[in-house]
Amino acid sequence: MSTLLYINASPRGEAAASTQAATTFLQALPASVQVQQVNLFDADLPEYTAVLASAKQATMMGAELSDAQQEQWQHVTRLVEQFVNADSYLFGVPMWNFSVPYKLKQYIDLITHPGLTFVSDAQGIRGLSAGPATVIYSRGGDYSPKDGKPDPFDFQSPYLNAWLGLVGLGPVTEVLVQATLAGPDGLSKAVQGAEAELAAAAQALASA
Ligand SMILES: Cc1cc2nc3c(=O)[nH]c(=O)nc-3n(C[C@H](O)[C@H](O)[C@H](O)COP(=O)(O)O)c2cc1C
Repeated sequence: MSTLLYINASPRGEAAASTQAATTFLQALPASVQVQQVNLFDADLPEYTAVLASAKQATMMGAELSDAQQEQWQHVTRLVEQFVNADSYLFGVPMWNFSVPYKLKQYIDLITHPGLTFVSDAQGIRGLSAGPATVIYSRGGDYSPKDGKPDPFDFQSPYLNAWLGLVGLGPVTEVLVQATLAGPDGLSKAVQGAEAELAAAAQALASA
């Protein structure tokens, strides 16, 4: 039995293109894969307070945490533990103003710390998590590369892909669910267009 962590960054429930695409993926998973789902818009994600920021700094310096710092830092370690203990990953990520929704950024800020999700030393930077990741990028428009060049407004996939590399996840399978706002059938067409790719990515986990 292996664990797949499904991070859902859309608040739109079943109406979301990314959720519908994720359902196709989850239905095609081998029976040996157990799914743990985090809906970021319903999750208990602490605000980044001054105490939490100082706890991060103290941890990086190897200093002892105060009681107040410890109390807030335990939320970070709980989230980090859940993240690094998964064997594979699925992300449902809508494009919001050319980037990722703020709840996903908050989650990233909460779990990304040297010594917990990556290390940076004389040998360079290495992630402390591992495993294949499938990332569903849903977008109202179409941000496919044009003339061999990346779309200059796509700050969603370059940002998240760089972060996935930092924390050690790979290989990464990107599934684009695009032009969801292109007319009344836009969303269903976009999801249907990605179905085969999603099923193949899920089935590949049988041999991962
Ligand atoms: C706050 C907000 C910002 C958005 N910004 C963009 C954008 O910059 N570019 C775009 O193509 N679509 C944008 N959209 C549309 C969504 O990307 C599109 O509806 C997508 O299908 C949402 O994903 P979901 O259906 O999985 O929730 C935005 C939607 C919201 C709610």
